[in-house]
Amino acid sequence: MEFNILPVLSPEEVERFVTDLSRATFVDGKATAVGAAREAKHNLQAERSAANSSALDETIFAALQRNKEFQSFAFPKRILPPSYARYEPGMQYGTHIDGAVMGGVRTDLAMTLFLSSPETYDGGELVIEFASGEQEIKLAAGEAVVYPATTLHRVAPVTRGTRIVAVTWIQCAVREERVRSVLHDLSRAVSHAEAAKDAPQTLLLSKCFHNLLRCVVEP
Ligand code: NI
Repeated sequence: MEFNILPVLSPEEVERFVTDLSRATFVDGKATAVGAAREAKHNLQAERSAANSSALDETIFAALQRNKEFQSFAFPKRILPPSYARYEPGMQYGTHIDGAVMGGVRTDLAMTLFLSSPETYDGGELVIEFASGEQEIKLAAGEAVVYPATTLHRVAPVTRGTRIVAVTWIQCAVREERVRSVLHDLSRAVSHAEAAKDAPQTLLLSKCFHNLLRCVVEP
Protein backbone atom coordinates (compact mmCIF):
# COMPACT_ATOMS: atom_id res chain seq x y z
CA MET A 1 0.00 0.00 0.00
CA GLU A 2 1.57 3.27 -1.12
CA PHE A 3 -0.61 5.56 0.96
CA ASN A 4 -2.98 5.18 3.86
CA ILE A 5 -6.12 7.05 4.87
CA LEU A 6 -6.78 7.20 8.60
CA PRO A 7 -9.34 8.66 10.97
CA VAL A 8 -7.21 10.84 13.29
CA LEU A 9 -9.39 13.43 15.09
CA SER A 10 -12.89 13.20 16.54
CA PRO A 11 -15.54 15.75 15.43
CA GLU A 12 -15.11 17.54 18.82
CA GLU A 13 -11.35 17.78 18.30
CA VAL A 14 -11.84 19.10 14.76
CA GLU A 15 -14.19 21.78 16.12
CA ARG A 16 -11.56 22.85 18.67
CA PHE A 17 -8.92 23.07 15.92
CA VAL A 18 -11.13 25.21 13.71
CA THR A 19 -11.99 27.54 16.63
CA ASP A 20 -8.37 27.86 17.79
CA LEU A 21 -7.11 28.41 14.25
CA SER A 22 -9.73 31.10 13.61
CA ARG A 23 -7.88 33.13 16.29
CA ALA A 24 -4.40 32.46 14.84
CA THR A 25 -2.42 34.89 12.71
CA PHE A 26 -1.88 33.54 9.21
CA VAL A 27 1.11 34.61 7.10
CA ASP A 28 2.29 33.88 3.55
CA GLY A 29 3.20 30.19 3.30
CA LYS A 30 6.22 30.99 1.12
CA ALA A 31 8.14 31.81 4.30
CA THR A 32 8.63 28.12 5.08
CA ALA A 33 9.11 26.75 1.54
CA VAL A 34 12.53 26.13 0.05
CA GLY A 35 13.83 26.00 -3.54
CA ALA A 36 11.34 25.57 -6.35
CA ALA A 37 8.53 24.80 -3.88
CA ARG A 38 8.63 28.49 -2.89
CA GLU A 39 7.45 29.58 -6.33
CA ALA A 40 4.72 26.94 -6.39
CA LYS A 41 3.30 27.71 -2.94
CA HIS A 42 0.30 30.03 -2.73
CA ASN A 43 -1.35 29.61 0.66
CA LEU A 44 -1.44 30.98 4.19
CA GLN A 45 0.11 29.40 7.23
CA ALA A 46 -0.52 29.92 10.94
CA GLU A 47 2.37 31.82 12.47
CA ARG A 48 4.40 29.93 15.04
CA SER A 49 5.34 32.04 18.02
CA ALA A 50 7.98 29.59 19.22
CA ALA A 51 9.51 26.25 18.43
CA ASN A 52 7.49 24.78 21.32
CA SER A 53 4.67 22.56 20.35
CA SER A 54 1.20 23.93 20.89
CA ALA A 55 -1.82 22.21 22.43
CA LEU A 56 -3.02 21.49 18.89
CA ASP A 57 0.28 19.80 18.02
CA GLU A 58 0.01 17.71 21.18
CA THR A 59 -3.52 16.63 20.25
CA ILE A 60 -2.30 15.40 16.86
CA PHE A 61 0.76 13.67 18.33
CA ALA A 62 -1.44 11.90 20.92
CA ALA A 63 -3.97 10.84 18.27
CA LEU A 64 -1.19 9.40 16.09
CA GLN A 65 0.38 7.68 19.07
CA ARG A 66 -2.82 5.74 19.82
CA ASN A 67 -3.63 5.04 16.15
CA LYS A 68 -2.52 1.42 15.61
CA GLU A 69 -2.94 1.59 11.85
CA PHE A 70 -0.70 4.67 11.67
CA GLN A 71 1.92 3.01 13.88
CA SER A 72 2.02 -0.20 11.82
CA PHE A 73 2.06 1.69 8.50
CA ALA A 74 4.55 4.47 9.29
CA PHE A 75 6.85 3.11 12.03
CA PRO A 76 7.31 6.73 13.14
CA LYS A 77 10.64 7.66 14.69
CA ARG A 78 10.24 11.44 14.61
CA ILE A 79 7.25 13.59 13.68
CA LEU A 80 7.64 17.30 12.94
CA PRO A 81 5.36 19.82 14.66
CA PRO A 82 2.53 20.30 12.14
CA SER A 83 2.01 23.38 9.99
CA TYR A 84 -1.54 24.70 9.80
CA ALA A 85 -2.35 25.92 6.30
CA ARG A 86 -5.31 27.85 4.94
CA TYR A 87 -6.30 28.11 1.30
CA GLU A 88 -8.75 30.81 0.22
CA PRO A 89 -10.31 30.94 -3.27
CA GLY A 90 -7.57 31.24 -5.90
CA MET A 91 -4.92 29.67 -3.68
CA GLN A 92 -3.09 26.47 -4.59
CA TYR A 93 0.23 24.69 -4.17
CA GLY A 94 1.70 23.73 -7.56
CA THR A 95 3.53 20.47 -8.23
CA HIS A 96 6.60 20.17 -6.00
CA ILE A 97 8.83 17.77 -4.12
CA ASP A 98 9.18 18.17 -0.37
CA GLY A 99 12.67 18.87 1.00
CA ALA A 100 14.50 15.71 2.16
CA VAL A 101 15.31 17.12 5.60
CA MET A 102 13.22 19.54 7.64
CA GLY A 103 14.01 20.59 11.19
CA GLY A 104 16.47 17.70 11.55
CA VAL A 105 13.87 15.17 10.43
CA ARG A 106 14.37 13.06 7.30
CA THR A 107 11.03 13.35 5.56
CA ASP A 108 10.14 9.77 4.59
CA LEU A 109 6.37 10.27 4.77
CA ALA A 110 4.14 13.32 4.52
CA MET A 111 0.76 13.64 6.18
CA THR A 112 -2.15 15.94 5.37
CA LEU A 113 -4.87 16.10 8.00
CA PHE A 114 -8.07 17.65 6.63
CA LEU A 115 -9.82 20.07 9.02
CA SER A 116 -12.53 21.54 6.75
CA SER A 117 -15.61 19.54 5.75
CA PRO A 118 -15.33 18.74 2.02
CA GLU A 119 -18.78 20.18 1.24
CA THR A 120 -17.70 23.63 2.52
CA TYR A 121 -15.17 24.21 -0.28
CA ASP A 122 -14.57 23.35 -3.93
CA GLY A 123 -11.20 22.30 -5.34
CA GLY A 124 -8.33 21.88 -2.91
CA GLU A 125 -7.73 18.21 -3.69
CA LEU A 126 -4.31 16.87 -2.77
CA VAL A 127 -3.03 15.28 -6.00
CA ILE A 128 -0.21 12.75 -5.63
CA GLU A 129 1.73 11.41 -8.63
CA PHE A 130 2.33 7.68 -8.23
CA ALA A 131 3.94 5.42 -10.86
CA SER A 132 0.45 3.94 -11.35
CA GLY A 133 -1.11 7.36 -12.00
CA GLU A 134 -2.43 10.37 -10.12
CA GLN A 135 -4.46 10.04 -6.92
CA GLU A 136 -6.81 12.90 -6.02
CA ILE A 137 -7.51 13.02 -2.32
CA LYS A 138 -10.08 15.08 -0.46
CA LEU A 139 -11.14 13.71 2.91
CA ALA A 140 -13.67 14.24 5.66
CA ALA A 141 -12.68 16.65 8.44
CA GLY A 142 -10.56 14.70 10.95
CA GLU A 143 -9.21 12.22 8.39
CA ALA A 144 -5.59 12.18 7.23
CA VAL A 145 -3.66 10.77 4.31
CA VAL A 146 -0.13 9.52 4.92
CA TYR A 147 1.94 9.18 1.73
CA PRO A 148 5.56 8.94 0.58
CA ALA A 149 7.27 12.35 0.63
CA THR A 150 9.29 11.02 -2.32
CA THR A 151 6.36 11.73 -4.67
CA LEU A 152 5.62 14.85 -6.70
CA HIS A 153 2.36 16.30 -5.41
CA ARG A 154 0.21 19.43 -5.55
CA VAL A 155 -2.87 21.04 -4.07
CA ALA A 156 -5.48 21.90 -6.72
CA PRO A 157 -6.77 25.51 -6.72
CA VAL A 158 -9.53 26.25 -4.24
CA THR A 159 -12.45 27.83 -6.12
CA ARG A 160 -14.96 28.28 -3.27
CA GLY A 161 -14.79 28.35 0.52
CA THR A 162 -11.78 27.76 2.75
CA ARG A 163 -9.58 24.68 2.97
CA ILE A 164 -7.81 24.27 6.31
CA VAL A 165 -5.33 21.43 6.81
CA ALA A 166 -2.55 20.40 9.15
CA VAL A 167 0.51 18.99 7.42
CA THR A 168 3.48 17.23 8.89
CA TRP A 169 6.34 14.90 8.00
CA ILE A 170 7.52 11.68 9.50
CA GLN A 171 10.91 10.04 9.73
CA CYS A 172 10.37 6.29 9.78
CA ALA A 173 12.27 3.87 12.01
CA VAL A 174 12.13 1.54 8.97
CA ARG A 175 13.62 3.52 6.15
CA GLU A 176 12.86 1.31 3.15
CA GLU A 177 9.29 1.65 1.90
CA ARG A 178 9.13 -1.89 0.50
CA VAL A 179 10.16 -3.37 3.85
CA ARG A 180 7.61 -1.19 5.69
CA SER A 181 4.98 -2.55 3.34
CA VAL A 182 5.87 -6.20 4.16
CA LEU A 183 5.90 -5.40 7.89
CA HIS A 184 2.51 -3.71 7.56
CA ASP A 185 1.08 -6.82 5.88
CA LEU A 186 2.62 -9.05 8.56
CA SER A 187 1.06 -6.98 11.34
CA ARG A 188 -2.33 -7.29 9.61
CA ALA A 189 -1.79 -11.06 9.35
CA VAL A 190 -1.06 -11.16 13.12
CA SER A 191 -4.36 -9.32 13.75
CA HIS A 192 -6.26 -11.76 11.53
CA ALA A 193 -4.73 -14.76 13.33
CA GLU A 194 -5.58 -13.18 16.72
CA ALA A 195 -9.17 -12.52 15.63
CA ALA A 196 -9.43 -16.16 14.51
CA LYS A 197 -8.07 -17.20 17.95
CA ASP A 198 -5.37 -19.21 16.19
CA ALA A 199 -2.62 -19.14 18.83
CA PRO A 200 0.12 -21.06 16.96
CA GLN A 201 -0.42 -18.92 13.83
CA THR A 202 -0.39 -15.73 15.92
CA LEU A 203 2.89 -16.73 17.54
CA LEU A 204 4.58 -17.68 14.28
CA LEU A 205 3.48 -14.50 12.48
CA SER A 206 4.48 -12.37 15.48
CA LYS A 207 7.88 -14.05 15.43
CA CYS A 208 8.25 -13.24 11.69
CA PHE A 209 7.15 -9.63 12.26
CA HIS A 210 9.51 -8.94 15.15
CA ASN A 211 12.49 -10.76 13.67
CA LEU A 212 12.17 -8.94 10.33
CA LEU A 213 11.71 -5.64 12.21
CA ARG A 214 14.86 -6.43 14.26
CA CYS A 215 16.85 -6.73 11.00
CA VAL A 216 15.91 -3.30 9.67
CA VAL A 217 14.78 -1.00 12.49
CA GLU A 218 16.71 2.20 13.28
CA PRO A 219 15.33 2.95 16.75
NI1 NI B 1 4.47 19.11 -0.22
